[in-house]
Amino acid sequence: MKKEVMVWTGAGQIGMAIARRMGFGKKIMVGDKKLENAKAISTIMNEAGFDTEPLEMDLTSRESIREMLTKAQEYGEITQLVNAAGVSPSQASIETILKVDLYGTAVLLEEVGKVISRGGTGVTISSQSGHRMKQLTAEEDEQLATTPTEEILSLSILQPQNINDTLHAYQLAKRCNEKRVMAEAVKWGERGARLNSISPGIIVTPLAVDELNGPRGDFYKNMFAKCPAGRPGTADEVANVAELLMSPQGAFITGSDFLIDGGATAAYFYGALKP
Ligand SMILES: NC(=O)c1ccc[n+]([C@@H]2O[C@H](COP(=O)([O-])OP(=O)(O)OC[C@H]3O[C@@H](n4cnc5c(N)ncnc54)[C@H](O)[C@@H]3O)[C@@H](O)[C@H]2O)c1
Repeated sequence: MKKEVMVWTGAGQIGMAIARRMGFGKKIMVGDKKLENAKAISTIMNEAGFDTEPLEMDLTSRESIREMLTKAQEYGEITQLVNAAGVSPSQASIETILKVDLYGTAVLLEEVGKVISRGGTGVTISSQSGHRMKQLTAEEDEQLATTPTEEILSLSILQPQNINDTLHAYQLAKRCNEKRVMAEAVKWGERGARLNSISPGIIVTPLAVDELNGPRGDFYKNMFAKCPAGRPGTADEVANVAELLMSPQGAFITGSDFLIDGGATAAYFYGALKP
């Protein structure tokens, strides 16, 4: 029997929280570069009554993304996308961050946009980091939004010599996610589908734990101590936002980005976290 299908990339905590909230009754394809991550999370989900299938996939490869989508369509129509795959500034080089978080996300949004069903919805996980970086020019924003995906890594602002460090690369990648979602949402809209991004602050997951134990650990600990919420967030709180965006209650929301950071960005600009 054909089912509606959720395509979920990045078998981490944020992705799982969203899949548990929105994936009931659907076939859930969970893809990750580390097959062991996808398998482990798939077992947890299946033992909780979900119907998931783990897959090895690489966000940096269009071919790998297409293979995942072809496999997904064998089960039914793709009605949901959850993109929670990514690498953080303490986990990867400038080049890898740009290839995975920026280029890979752009390819995925483009490829899913070609097959998403009418009424379908997608969310991609960006980051507060994109909000904290200084404003880009209108021209740079437009380049990030609309440059053909295969040419995007040739943009001047994305050349490693113009990027200070891995945090800067991550910020650029996440700003690009936000802009790409705006441009793609127009195309998704032609199919009656919606696409949004969520920009979380510090959410306790293995990726965040790597950051807290990495070279910027004290910076991040200070950030959540001094933000209005006074604590890091949880993946389930991110899923609360995803639920709104992916459900009929969010029917008027598309091409948008939602910051969920306990007020850290507000405090960075106008409060105790001001540099
Ligand atoms: N945790 C946070 O504090 C936080 C804050 C803001 C944004 N984010 C973003 O949320 C997303 C999910 O992060 P998380 O905290 O759940 O991390 P996580 O480490 O739990 O999960 C990320 C998953 O992505 C996978 N992945 C990495 N590169 C890949 C590739 N090329 N192809 C396919 N899969 C790949 C990893 O193997 C991992 O399983 C990331 O995009 C991250 O930048 C996280």
